[in-house]
Amino acid sequence: MERRKFLKKSSALVGLPYVATPHNPSFVKKNSNQINWKAVSKEFSYDNKYVNLNSGSAGVISKTTLNFLNQCSQEMGYTSPYQGWDAWQPLIKQNKQQLADLVGVNKDEIALVRNTTEAINLLLQGYPFKANDAIVAANHDYPYVLNTLEQLSKNKNTQTNIISIDWQSCTKATLIEQYKNSLTKNTKLLVLTYIPHSVGLILPVKEITAIAHQNGTEVLLDAAHAFAHIPHNLKELNCDYYATSLHKWLSAPYGNGLLYIKKDKVEKIEPVISSYKNEKDSMQKFEHLGTRAFQNIAAIQPALDFLLKIGLERKLKRLQTLTKYWINRLPEIKNAQLMSNIHAFNFGGMACFKIKDRSSKKIVETLMKEYKIIAKSTGLPNGDSAIRISTNVFILEKHLDQLVDALKEIAG
Ligand SMILES: Cc1ncc(COP(=O)(O)O)c(C=O)c1O
Repeated sequence: MERRKFLKKSSALVGLPYVATPHNPSFVKKNSNQINWKAVSKEFSYDNKYVNLNSGSAGVISKTTLNFLNQCSQEMGYTSPYQGWDAWQPLIKQNKQQLADLVGVNKDEIALVRNTTEAINLLLQGYPFKANDAIVAANHDYPYVLNTLEQLSKNKNTQTNIISIDWQSCTKATLIEQYKNSLTKNTKLLVLTYIPHSVGLILPVKEITAIAHQNGTEVLLDAAHAFAHIPHNLKELNCDYYATSLHKWLSAPYGNGLLYIKKDKVEKIEPVISSYKNEKDSMQKFEHLGTRAFQNIAAIQPALDFLLKIGLERKLKRLQTLTKYWINRLPEIKNAQLMSNIHAFNFGGMACFKIKDRSSKKIVETLMKEYKIIAKSTGLPNGDSAIRISTNVFILEKHLDQLVDALKEIAG
């Protein structure tokens, strides 16, 4: 019997859910088409023990997603991993299509990898750099990305030019100017972060990409925080390479990421992990990562379904409302200072602040220990530190009131 037919038949025997489609409960109000945010929040509240304000690190998985993931894990646990992989192909293809649709590209232009770090490394390590080629990045880029650039300069003799942005004074125009001035005739690649992890602001990446292209420089967009957070279309942004994680703002199971490469550039990026000869111009060459948690890829589906039911535009508006809500209450906290300039840049569900002369790390520890509130202490590009708050669709105003009340007590 043909291998595929055999697997399909045997998967039907063991009950692998290769055609299963998980359904989230309805949280759209009948008649008004409005979202019931309390019902959304309930889908994520397991024991009401913690308020999770750190979706920037990784989102909370919804109950429907977790149930489906558990079901897939069990089935993979008592069959072999590749049986699951083959059996779930229709579902995985559908996931890929919907992921590609969300950023306006074709499903053959993306590879499903495990996270942004991996996607960026596949790209940077496989890029045909020559000695003395220059790469521009910024000090607000993610530390692991900057580490990879440092390794490249050691191993391939590339030159890295890291620009420093003064986030307290910069505007969109000065930021664009600074990127522009950093480009030289040797600059082959610009590594650009869509939403830096510390300040959480949305950078004008379309404008910066256009300037880079005028200089003959390609652009790798680190969109770890952009996917399923802010609407964007890769054809419009016109970036050459794009990397993101799906376990942050999409709330997909951990270990899901995506790499996009412009069609005509796929061939020039070497796969640094084993691949087939006939896959030179196929994104599949980046997906051969050995045996992996295939159930995690299948279980992207309920997370996608959840997002599509809410709608990305509506999600962003809600997250902006929540960010504005806690920022408006910030003056009630003694010596609190907003560190994200939301007046100069667009923003979504992430911003940071600090309390003058107090350790952000200690405050975050106290929030967790004494108030069961999860926030993130983050290093700022200028060496200072701040407290980053990420709101997601499961956060309600009452959770932010809890945060402000706790901070008022901590700040004294
Ligand atoms: C801007 C940015 N890039 C890359 C990453 C790495 O993401 P991951 O750990 O999912 O690979 C992060 C993680 O927070 C990030 O903030």
